[in-house]
Amino acid sequence: MSRGAALVTGGAGYIGSHVALELLDAGFDAVLFDNLSNSTRAAAAGVRAAARRDAPLIEGDVRDGAALDAAFSARAIDAVFHFAAAKAIGESALRPLDYYANNLEGTLRLVERMRAWGVKTLIYSSSAAVYGEPDAVPLTEASPLAPVSPYGRTKLAAEWMLRDLQQAEADWRISILRYFNPIGAHASGLLGDAPPGVPNNLVPFIGQVAVGRLPRLRVFGDDYPTPDGTGVRDYVHVVDLAKGHVKALEGLASAPQLAIYNLGSGAGHSVLEVVRAFEAVSERRIPCEFAARRPGDVAALYADPSKANAELAWRAELDLARMCQDAWRHLVESPGAPPYAAARC
Ligand code: NAD
Ligand code: WQD
Repeated sequence: MSRGAALVTGGAGYIGSHVALELLDAGFDAVLFDNLSNSTRAAAAGVRAAARRDAPLIEGDVRDGAALDAAFSARAIDAVFHFAAAKAIGESALRPLDYYANNLEGTLRLVERMRAWGVKTLIYSSSAAVYGEPDAVPLTEASPLAPVSPYGRTKLAAEWMLRDLQQAEADWRISILRYFNPIGAHASGLLGDAPPGVPNNLVPFIGQVAVGRLPRLRVFGDDYPTPDGTGVRDYVHVVDLAKGHVKALEGLASAPQLAIYNLGSGAGHSVLEVVRAFEAVSERRIPCEFAARRPGDVAALYADPSKANAELAWRAELDLARMCQDAWRHLVESPGAPPYAAARC
């Protein structure tokens, strides 16, 4: 018997597809909603194949009220998971209005249609980007909010909008989840992070080097005040992250509220540690060269996830080796991937 139905905006994307699968596995129904601007129908098919259950994909834009109405009228929805957004930090500085339109206006239109349909349970994808360049780590939910990119500011502006909404209309149940660095893929190999073009983020970039599509990794900065001089981040397995979403939904059952949680492992790993972990599982050498620091990067960023540990009974369980192993499996086994031969470095 179904535990209820969730609308998953951005459900064909990297995190949304993993959350849709966890929801299905946990006994919920899921309706995916995506404009496929950064994903393909294959991801939705991957969700259905991995879950061995149906999960319809409705193609539409979250700024399009009629498209949302079609989704809400297709079946009764109990909760919305909102992943649909643009997420490239560098691009957001070049096209800020596109980012505000997609991420902030998109969230506004979505909650308007949710209210019209009487659906007042929302799990919102926020980001560690709302903290900017912190003075101190680990970051708690009460750490200062000072995003340095337009992307981070769209995420924080949407958080504020949701906070104002919940204060004005106390029957909303809203969980804001601030992700740190999600990597890895579902163990089936059917879902994963497959950005088109040259990846911005570390692990997808390493993957492209490992399969020979890119010649080498540029390590941005070797003189940070970290154990090996390279940047330290809080990598969290996307499946752990997805399980956190189910816990967040369950946590909202007790009472209307607005809750904010950091979803990270609480541990930091350097760029070189990630490279070595990926080399070990892929049995490929990742050629590296040191390059200048990337503007906007900080030395070390990791979460204090104790609030989610305590209130949601959630903690990240899968380690860095497993994250890299699952990312590698998705790269070599996903449908359409060229047949990469295993090779020793
Ligand atoms: P993604 O690009 O893989 O997924 C986003 C999905 O939303 C894509 O399938 C895209 O086609 C869709 N989409 C974008 N704009 C849309 C619109 N206007 N209408 C309908 N669909 C639209 O990104 P992701 O990594 O899965 O990120 C999901 C969410 O998590 C985003 O809100 C992002 O800001 C947030 N987040 C991601 C990370 C990360 O490192 N991946 C970290 C923190 C927060
Ligand atoms: C990780 C580390 C880089 C690429 C971003 C957003 C954050 C969230 C997650 C959305 C850093 C280094 C990277 C490369 C490198 N996204 N690196 N060479 O910047 O920590 O976080 O994604 O909300 O808000 O800021 O992730 O994977 O880009 O970088 O040396 O080619 O890898 O300098 O130390 P980041 P990342």
